[in-house]
Amino acid sequence: MARARSNFVCQECGAVYNRWHGKCEACGAWSSIVEEIGGGSSAAVPASLRSARGKGRVFPLEGLQGESKEPPRTPSGIDELDRVTGGGFVRGSVILIGGDPGIGKSTLLMQATAALAQGGHRVVFISGEEAVGQVRMRAERLGLASSPVELASQTNVEDIVATLSEGRPPALVVIDSIQTMWTDTAESAPGTVTQVRASAQHLIRYAKTTGAAVILVGHVTKDGQIAGPRVVEHMVDAVISFEGDGAHHFRILRSAKNRFGPTDEIGVFEMTGAGLAEVPNPSALFLEGRDAAAPGAAVFAGMEGTRPLLVEIQALVAPSALGNPRRAVVGWDPARLSMVVAVLEAHAGLKLGTHDIYLNVAGGMRINEPACDLAAAAALVSSLSGSALPPDAVYFGEIGLSGAVRPVSQAATRVKEAAKLGFSTAILPVSRSEGGDGGALRLQTIGHISELVAAVAARPRHRKAPSAQQEG
Ligand code: TYD
Ligand code: MG
Repeated sequence: MARARSNFVCQECGAVYNRWHGKCEACGAWSSIVEEIGGGSSAAVPASLRSARGKGRVFPLEGLQGESKEPPRTPSGIDELDRVTGGGFVRGSVILIGGDPGIGKSTLLMQATAALAQGGHRVVFISGEEAVGQVRMRAERLGLASSPVELASQTNVEDIVATLSEGRPPALVVIDSIQTMWTDTAESAPGTVTQVRASAQHLIRYAKTTGAAVILVGHVTKDGQIAGPRVVEHMVDAVISFEGDGAHHFRILRSAKNRFGPTDEIGVFEMTGAGLAEVPNPSALFLEGRDAAAPGAAVFAGMEGTRPLLVEIQALVAPSALGNPRRAVVGWDPARLSMVVAVLEAHAGLKLGTHDIYLNVAGGMRINEPACDLAAAAALVSSLSGSALPPDAVYFGEIGLSGAVRPVSQAATRVKEAAKLGFSTAILPVSRSEGGDGGALRLQTIGHISELVAAVAARPRHRKAPSAQQEG
């Protein structure tokens, strides 16, 4: 038998080369290329699925009209999780859940499987990382040891599929994690792109043929990509990331791709001593402990999918001792900060070129919306001038390069959430379509960034003593 041909595969993006390179041309990663025997795109197709050489089989073609039902779903009973999946796990679908190590993926999935098992479904939890005893200890800590979840510590995909095929088909199978799995059809080491891809393909085929929902856990590398499983993202039906940072207790579940549901929904959890607790009202959590009297803080009325979310944007603008002042952002796009700063300089006459600028989204939240521009600008102007913003106001609006404040979507929902949390003013762009009366809220429209700067400049300057809580 001829020696299996080896390929050089980038472990970050899965690009295949026929010789070693120091840098991957496809994704730009350094030292990520590893030799894999038989590594390549077609290596993992099992003989049973290959048609006889050169001769294809004829299959019937269908029209667009025909039977199409809502996919049958199994809700987990954990509302924040079901919100992100789109109402429950779809039969025969495969979900990839990615996240940093230690963020709580195994904990979340243990809680979800236990809830489903208690509801009478057959649920199997396969751990490739922890021994059965360790998983049991976690279940005990979560108070779930009595749920009828079937458990195994296994890493060979063929063995797993053979075991699952016995007895009643499971409603849900959790594979924790895909990086630890290996299949006989691929010859390279577990954890390599070829193995991860082949194992995932096998498990996806299992899901499609039996109707079981399969969850694959994937670890994320330091640059934020799901390592190895990056190459699996296009094969699965949904990609969900579990985010949060070590300094904060709450965790955010966010869907990045979902063939059967929304892609911009978030679910919010809090890590407690007894597992993950749902946070039904995240705005209150994100605004907890806010110092409304300090300059440089603005409350942003944001949207995450269909859900409004209030978060505090904090800015610190201080004269710089450096020739090249610092610009640092946590939780927002640094390019957008540069743009807002440039617009404030060009159209509102602010001098920020000799100042260090720090911007932080409080609580470890990450914001992607351009609607945050106005809140960020308000926080920057407030910090520069030393005047605190009105403590009962929320801000939202996109800033254009001309300094114009542009309307954003779902203004009414944002305003309603602010009213619910006890705010009394919303500072927002002029909008024709979504007028509304704001209910209990006073709506203050802004057309140009210079109006914001003038309004902040007219406010009283903050005294140095932190106890002086004068309000106007
Ligand atoms: P884990 O689910 O093992 O993370 P992952 O599978 O994503 O690697 O979660 C591990 C962390 O969660 C660990 O630091 C301990 C903490 N934790 C709690 O705070 N409370 C709990 O009830 C549990 C089970 C874990
Ligand atoms: Mg884990």
